Amino acid sequence: MEERVLHFKRRVLANLTGYGLEGESRLAKHIEKLQAGSYPVQGGKKLYTADDSRQIRAVDAPWPLPRFDRPEVLAFFYSKGGVGKTTICANIGVTLAAAGNRVLLIDTDPQASLSLLFDVDVDQEIYTLGDAVEAVIHDKPADFRKGLIRPIKDLQLDLLPADNRLVWTDMLMVQAQYREKLVEQVFICNQALLEEYDFVLIDTPPSVNSLSFSAVAASNRIISVVQLSKMAIKASGNLFKLARELKKGTGRVVPITFIPNMLHGGKPHTRSTLDIIRASIDSESSSKVGITATVIPEYVGLARPKGHEDGQKTLLEAEPLSLTTQKFIELSREIETLAMLDRGDENHG
Ligand SMILES: Nc1ncnc2c1ncn2[C@@H]1O[C@H](COP(=O)(O)OP(=O)(O)OP(=O)(O)O)[C@@H](O)[C@H]1O
Ligand SMILES: [Mg+2]
Repeated sequence: MEERVLHFKRRVLANLTGYGLEGESRLAKHIEKLQAGSYPVQGGKKLYTADDSRQIRAVDAPWPLPRFDRPEVLAFFYSKGGVGKTTICANIGVTLAAAGNRVLLIDTDPQASLSLLFDVDVDQEIYTLGDAVEAVIHDKPADFRKGLIRPIKDLQLDLLPADNRLVWTDMLMVQAQYREKLVEQVFICNQALLEEYDFVLIDTPPSVNSLSFSAVAASNRIISVVQLSKMAIKASGNLFKLARELKKGTGRVVPITFIPNMLHGGKPHTRSTLDIIRASIDSESSSKVGITATVIPEYVGLARPKGHEDGQKTLLEAEPLSLTTQKFIELSREIETLAMLDRGDENHG
């Protein structure tokens, strides 16, 4: 299998660090001060890595690198299938990491779409979140390091993959006491490891089961991908219900952020969809709910043909300068800002 690497041109580095097109000459000056690495070259020009993004954003860049003492845990959850949760989770994960963040992806879907996207051989023996949960239920140590995979070279992006045994984990959890706390307990067991990350992104299946409920309960924020369809928007009712259950069970209000997917900015139907989503939000006063300013369009580069789920590259790998890639960079920047807000909320009780 071809090894996945992520090296990019200076233009992409400028986009990831906030310098943009007009700031490229200022970026060039900044680059001169970087620690000289052994850069790969393409067409006589240097290529850069996530490490360069991190170094540049650490000192005086238009987009400074956020730093947290604990990771921001985001659950990609929506009770409707096929809306793009996995696609958006993978692309945001890679973009956040390329911009200099340390990212852990956790696949909790027995279909393992996220794992397949990162070339995991799901026929091999795999250590999943399910194994960690079972260990905690049986008072045994739960160690994520047994399962971690680093799918793209030069990127601080790790993946805890999934396989279809997760279906059984869910059945086991149904009988467990305090099941909404189980993933939180697994996180406590792995605290030292988790402190090595800035973001933990959890991809969940389209159903509310014990495992996805517990994963959402252990998160700082729910990220809900939503599309223009009556069914997709109607499913937000289930999401708000889950948020209410969480509040009852844990006393915590988990904020929700909608990411509109497969829409086209500026088109009339996009505006009306956004209005419908906003209207459903306004009636939901018990939760902190918002919607990203960035909208992900329907784009052929994001479409995975059915049955060919494995090995699909993320946009930053496949077409780093496309407009939709730029959307993911903007979205990642919004996610960083929300993470800083979450930290502020926690510090103020
Ligand atoms: N913006 C987009 N443009 C084009 N195709 C997209 C876009 N977003 C997602 N897709 C395609 O839609 C299909 C469903 O996406 P994805 O698997 O990410 O959804 P999901 O919500 O994770 O599904 P599930 O509920 O089954 O886990 C995939 O074939 C994917 O390639
Ligand atoms: Mg999915």
